[in-house]
Amino acid sequence: MPTVIEARDLHKTYVEKRGLIHRRVRRVEALRGVSFKVEKGIVFGLLGPNGAGKTTTVKILSTLLIPDKGRAWIMGHDVLEEPENVREIIGVSLSVERGFFWKLTGYENLKYFGMLRGLSGKELDKRIRELMDLLGLLELGADTKFYEDFSLGMKARLSLARALIHDPPVLILDEPTLGLDPASSRHIRRLIVRLAHEEGKTVLITSHNMWEVEVICDYVAIINKGKIIAMGTVPELKRMVSKEIPVEITGYAGKLVSEKDLREAVQEALRIGRVMVNVDKQGKVRIRVLVENGMEDSVVNRVLEILKAKGLKILEAKIMEPSLEDVFIKLTSGAES
Ligand SMILES: Nc1ncnc2c1ncn2[C@@H]1O[C@H](COP(=O)(O)OP(=O)(O)OP(=O)(O)O)[C@@H](O)[C@H]1O
Ligand SMILES: [Mg+2]
Repeated sequence: MPTVIEARDLHKTYVEKRGLIHRRVRRVEALRGVSFKVEKGIVFGLLGPNGAGKTTTVKILSTLLIPDKGRAWIMGHDVLEEPENVREIIGVSLSVERGFFWKLTGYENLKYFGMLRGLSGKELDKRIRELMDLLGLLELGADTKFYEDFSLGMKARLSLARALIHDPPVLILDEPTLGLDPASSRHIRRLIVRLAHEEGKTVLITSHNMWEVEVICDYVAIINKGKIIAMGTVPELKRMVSKEIPVEITGYAGKLVSEKDLREAVQEALRIGRVMVNVDKQGKVRIRVLVENGMEDSVVNRVLEILKAKGLKILEAKIMEPSLEDVFIKLTSGAES
């Protein structure tokens, strides 16, 4: 299969100047050498936590941002040297959308962007109706509703319709289902898979949702702190944790607990770093530990003791199937997650 998207050794550092009187400069190394190749007709997932560098990568591939170092190509066109050619063959949807007109309907917005792409008349009208139908926008009334009255799900669908208006062979979608309800997410996920597998389009999506990537991506690159830390198909990646068993413990903390404290306590007791801790705003705690095969019972007991000592009310402890989350935990062992 031919390579459709290629990123080679991309580097990007943001320099932020802060403070009016006391000037401070903060440098953020967003990308520290990102390389990957995407073959034709697949859904490729760039998976990583907040701040990993996903949007930065997407912006470089879409010609919206210039890297400090490195190169990238879309269907053989260099994004730095031939940005016009690249823009013709890609459809882009960014997670934070600007650029739609609030006082125009969904239909009128698409008409505007279609005309920018050189489409017009009956052909454009037909294309818009097709896309609105495909994305379930007609049944939501997006042809007559103003954009300002759109729900989040409708905005995401319209953004995808805009990316598809000129029927591009390559789609670059930054967190396409972020913040959407289950029905909208499912609709978009199904469409993405169909566009790749049935229409032969090459789709790059970013996500921090490991489950979503597992379900729809043919090939995955895991990015963390500006570096790709693993690549492969989902089964290939899961084989990296085949010797371990994931155990998940959920509980409630009566008071505010810090993720860092809990992680350190569990890590210290287990003398391993393979732990992920999430605490939500309601004080619900989710801890995932990778345990060596055969050690589940003793490890779970030890972790439960620590958590009880920390004042946690335990809700559940269960043995899980390995997921991409476990690959991530294994690869970032000991590091802040
Ligand atoms: N314009 C900017 N100025 C300064 N720092 C930035 C800028 N854009 C991004 N960053 C920083 O660069 C790093 C990578 O950001 P990026 O948006 O690429 O991550 P991401 O993987 O898309 O994260 P998220 O899941 O939150 O969308 C982060 O630390 C972020 O704070
Ligand atoms: Mg982002």
